[in-house]
Amino acid sequence: MSVLTKIQFADLEPVGPGTPTGRYLRRYWQPVIRSRDLPVARPKPIEILAEKFTAYRGEDGIPHIVAFRCAHRGAQLSLGWVEGSDLRCRYHGWKFDAAGQCIEQPSEDRPFCQRVKIPTYPVREYAGLVFGYFGEGEPPPFRQYPALDLPGVIVADPPEVLPCNFWNRLDNDTGHVPWVHRGTARRKQMNNYLAIRRESVEETGYGMKLIRHPAADEDANSLGLRGTANFFMPNTFQFWQKSRAKGYETQNIWDTKFTWTVPINDQKYVGFDVTHTPLEGEAAKAYAATRLSQQEAEAETRWDLAEKILAGEMTLEQLPDNLGAATCFEIEDYVTQVGQGTIAGRGREQLGQVDSARPLLLRRMWLREVNALLEGEPLTEWVIPPEAVRTGAIAPAE
Ligand code: FES
Ligand SMILES: [Fe+2]
Repeated sequence: MSVLTKIQFADLEPVGPGTPTGRYLRRYWQPVIRSRDLPVARPKPIEILAEKFTAYRGEDGIPHIVAFRCAHRGAQLSLGWVEGSDLRCRYHGWKFDAAGQCIEQPSEDRPFCQRVKIPTYPVREYAGLVFGYFGEGEPPPFRQYPALDLPGVIVADPPEVLPCNFWNRLDNDTGHVPWVHRGTARRKQMNNYLAIRRESVEETGYGMKLIRHPAADEDANSLGLRGTANFFMPNTFQFWQKSRAKGYETQNIWDTKFTWTVPINDQKYVGFDVTHTPLEGEAAKAYAATRLSQQEAEAETRWDLAEKILAGEMTLEQLPDNLGAATCFEIEDYVTQVGQGTIAGRGREQLGQVDSARPLLLRRMWLREVNALLEGEPLTEWVIPPEAVRTGAIAPAE
């Protein structure tokens, strides 16, 4: 590998077209919007990897992603109308089909539709999310995660848009839990979140396997401290955690949670979280309804509280009692990650033991892959095992 192209960790923060991270993440399918946030015939503007697009769902229910602007005079296409599976621009009524071909120019006496086409992008819908592929050439096979196929309830939580670089979330480590989430753990009697924990990591064929364990001898409250998690390269975590849905916080229900951390641009990311909860029948329906209604309602104002805390106008300990644990955890993570700075300026950190597992292995793997990409060398072909890669408890050592 040539020294000339070798990049450092700080070089991974920019995400636009042509940047190392921008090129690398464009090699993978990425979620861009929740399915429920893209109703039929209601186009939405989206931004990912510092580029803007238009997402819409045709009247047949099929989602599409096309250019942000009209090819005529650049109007924003999300202002337009969906007609069947086509999209009509609001400015002068040009109509584009789902392949991006212009098919109507109502104000032209001599239409030249055949010469006008807008870019379109491959789309898939999975686990309550709409994914797009924004790279060159044919997309890679679409990934599915067998753990999401197990019987249970799947909920895609309200997306978390945070005004900071995506690395602030991606290299978050398990050591933060008893500190960042202390207020909520105490308020909600979620005692297993209070103990100091350690994590060991190993590289796998799909990314990383993470094994967490308590730092000290276990006590009766340490359920969950011995557990496994997974990381699927390049930006998907799979955790195992006690349910944080309101009213369920102290019950012994464990979610498998998938998180996709997706850069919107250099200064903003969106986290898409999908949880699988092993409940079935009526219990599943009640759980899904409670979880969704609660979190949708609380999502409206959660960042107002987070910004007040960052501004010193209130403290994390003063979060209202009636907020669900999930929302409180989100606010705690927001103030921590946004508080690190929009772009944290990696390379100025003083790393210790707590950083030696997850963040360092993740950074090493990313640097290796991105350097290979820049050198024109083959990337690792990550393989999701056909059987569910489970997360869960590990029996305490004898
Ligand atoms: S800008 Fe879209 S039709 Fe004119
Ligand atoms: Fe957290």
